[in-house]
Amino acid sequence: MGILKSDEESGIKNCVPQYKIIISPTDYLPLDVYEHTQLEIGFGNGEFTVQYAKLNPEIFLYGVEISQSCVLRCARRAAGLDNLKIINTDARYMLRELFADESLEKIIMQFPCPWPGNGNAHRRVTARDFSNGLAAVLKVGGVFEMVSDDEDYSREVWRVLGSHEAVIPENFFTNPERAITTKYERKWLEQGKNIFSLTFRKTKEFTVPRRTSQEMHIKIKNQITQDDVAALKNISGKDENKKSFWRFGKNFTDGERFLLETLTSDDEFEQKFYINISPRDEGFLIRLDKTSSAFLTPAVRSALNDAANKLIK
Ligand SMILES: C[S@@+](CC[C@H](N)C(=O)[O-])C[C@H]1O[C@@H](n2cnc3c(N)ncnc32)[C@H](O)[C@@H]1O
Repeated sequence: MGILKSDEESGIKNCVPQYKIIISPTDYLPLDVYEHTQLEIGFGNGEFTVQYAKLNPEIFLYGVEISQSCVLRCARRAAGLDNLKIINTDARYMLRELFADESLEKIIMQFPCPWPGNGNAHRRVTARDFSNGLAAVLKVGGVFEMVSDDEDYSREVWRVLGSHEAVIPENFFTNPERAITTKYERKWLEQGKNIFSLTFRKTKEFTVPRRTSQEMHIKIKNQITQDDVAALKNISGKDENKKSFWRFGKNFTDGERFLLETLTSDDEFEQKFYINISPRDEGFLIRLDKTSSAFLTPAVRSALNDAANKLIK
């Protein structure tokens, strides 16, 4: 999840258009928003996204998409647009972290994966964490619009999200007239199948705490050797609620400092990064390495604490 800078700055020619992928853990969060800021989640190849941003120059549109290849396809289509920024991350986990409370006037989700079955309930729009995040970042009076080709899923979203304390269900249309339609959507309708459009409005203030933090350093007073760091390899841990897991891997050293490879998962939001262990004031400082593209989630904090606890003598 790096930052792709403008062609000029990065020296990459004809690869992706300028100014697009912006999110990195070192960026300041929450993101900047303007008077009319909107968000599209899971934009796929960006066919809708780019047309929507072009047709509505007065809005500033963020697009969040988990698939890197989709991000690149959308970025190519978006060349020349300056009211769209694309973010490559998992919206399910990061929506709440990316935006301040009351910052978006509209959130759009078109044809999200319905994730059928009980085992997948936590991945759906209806999952409590996601609907709370959505309700927090929308402005009061702001709208969440979902379009789907799955009637059962649409009805479930209507029922569950519609019962959220800060949101009211507003419209449920079957095959509505839409200003922008995608190739997939036109083909689906030509086959005589239905499309459902749901809108919800946020009616009152609502917030939930953020899960990520900006900085974490742990100081250790004793000396640390390569054998100490190597002993952490393959050690794993989990938090009591079982939503956070971590595992340490191999280490690298220049003889003085160490980088410890680490994998974490927060409710399936997975990250791989290095823990930096460097000499400081007679002891060692343990922190997320600056080159690592990881957000300081609960699992990352637990991994840092666990490494520190195991390195204290
Ligand atoms: C069925 S496609 C629909 C794409 C597009 N909206 C359209 O109408 O053609 C669902 C999209 O959501 C993306 N997606 C799934 N889970 C996501 C998540 N947690 N965060 C962001 N995007 C996600 C997928 O990568 C995929 O591009």
